[in-house]
Amino acid sequence: MAPQGRLLIRGGRVVNDDCSQVADVLVEDGVVRALGRDLLPPGDAPRGLRILDAAGKLVLPGGIDTHTHMQFPFMGTQSVDDFYRGTKAALAGGTTMIIDFAIPQKGSSLLEAFETWRSWADPNVCCDYSLHVAVTWWSDKVKEEMKTLAQDKGVNSFKMFMAYKGLYMVQDEQMYAAFCHCKEIGAIAQVHAENGDLIAEGAKKMLALGITGPEGHELCRPEAVEAEATLRAITIASAVNCPLYVVHVMSKSAAKVVADARREGKVVYGEPIAAGLGTDGTHYWSKEWHHAAHHVMGPPLRPDPSTPGFLVNLLANGDLTTTGSDNCTFNTCQKALGKDDFTKIPNGVNGVEDRMSVIWEKGVHSGKMDENRFVAVTSTNAAKIFNLYPKKGRIAVGSDADIVIWDPEATRTISAKTHHQAVNFNIFEGMVCHGVPLVTISRGRVVYEAGVFSVAAGDGKFIPRKPFAEYVYKRITQRDKTCTPMPVQRAPYKGDVFTLNSREAEEGDRAGTRMQGHSSSG
Ligand code: URP
Ligand code: ZN
Ligand code: ZN
Repeated sequence: MAPQGRLLIRGGRVVNDDCSQVADVLVEDGVVRALGRDLLPPGDAPRGLRILDAAGKLVLPGGIDTHTHMQFPFMGTQSVDDFYRGTKAALAGGTTMIIDFAIPQKGSSLLEAFETWRSWADPNVCCDYSLHVAVTWWSDKVKEEMKTLAQDKGVNSFKMFMAYKGLYMVQDEQMYAAFCHCKEIGAIAQVHAENGDLIAEGAKKMLALGITGPEGHELCRPEAVEAEATLRAITIASAVNCPLYVVHVMSKSAAKVVADARREGKVVYGEPIAAGLGTDGTHYWSKEWHHAAHHVMGPPLRPDPSTPGFLVNLLANGDLTTTGSDNCTFNTCQKALGKDDFTKIPNGVNGVEDRMSVIWEKGVHSGKMDENRFVAVTSTNAAKIFNLYPKKGRIAVGSDADIVIWDPEATRTISAKTHHQAVNFNIFEGMVCHGVPLVTISRGRVVYEAGVFSVAAGDGKFIPRKPFAEYVYKRITQRDKTCTPMPVQRAPYKGDVFTLNSREAEEGDRAGTRMQGHSSSG
């Protein structure tokens, strides 16, 4: 990235997750150097210092999108927003960091997948990024590679799919083993929570009924399918005392499961996405096939129109914690791979560019959140959970200067005609959002200002994340110290013991072995 002089962001209201203050922000060498009132005495600005007037505006930490799939090879095709177009669009929307997913095929190396995704991203990203890695199968090699990824490669989060049967889906015992291992290496387990077996059966049923259109996608995987898997994942994680992060919470039922678990003290976090907060699944019943198909994603948007408002409420009150976009975009001709069979419609929607504005509109402009909670759910909480804090997710001396000058009063109308993404459709088409990013600053450089980009492919960089994030692991460690079950100390039983014949003894041994299950590896 070409060097840029110093910046002074003057007179704005600096908003962090815990407080706001009117202050100047001095940026040097990509980081925040000073924060306070009247940092520059009246008079001419020194040479090499650019002044950005932020009076009357908000100065926010750049957004962190916890969930994207740029140029993802998926369902026979590849998502059209690649690391260049996708991250450029992110900057236009006020997001300065994305966390994408490296996803190996079953039987393939996690390390190779990680290196492949890095080779796609490194030369092309316009904003900083990091990678979650998916665990799509289980073996000693997977175990070893997870450890290497956590210790040497900067990966502290692993996603398990409970859906996409035959492709990425793992069974409960594999998930149990993976959760155990996540805990050992200090990672956070993530789940795509949907019951893949029920989806497969439901899809057959819909097709047999002659339902081949996009509405079949929702009908074969109703809310209960998501809620059941969410509860199952939480139950398994809790048995292991492993922290759990539920990606793309899409339904009221699943959100309630997460909220209940948090009230029971479980270390679980729920991530709704821009699509689920900003629109709903009634679109699957649109008479326009392409319109309906462009909303197809998994878990689906829900036809209950009160869902977005409910998810925003839970995000506002702390039941849900972070926000992503699950940006995974396909053009109409790609969606049309499933024109006669909804199971073949590539799953995914847009959101990386619009997430911040949609959340401002639905969260803050609606009166459900204040500006501090907005920052918490769009960057700070993600930075804490994924161990990026306070380098990311905060405006403080020493933090990376990833900053957005935000106009809370200005409005913009979202449209595929004006967005910066590669995809030819926008699920938020026509939505008027208050909250507009005026200037986006990435590690101290103005990269987007008044609609103009000053950024090149490769200007962003990979941000490694260390394991054992304190925000997540302190409670886990404390619980292990104090809540591990202890045997009852008692005198040995001295009475009679019933005698089994040899066949009964053998059966008893076999039943015991079955009950204890298999060893966790293999
Ligand atoms: O429909 C979706 N969500 N596509 C991306 C893959 C995933 O499950 O996150
Ligand atoms: Zn998923
Ligand atoms: Zn996803």
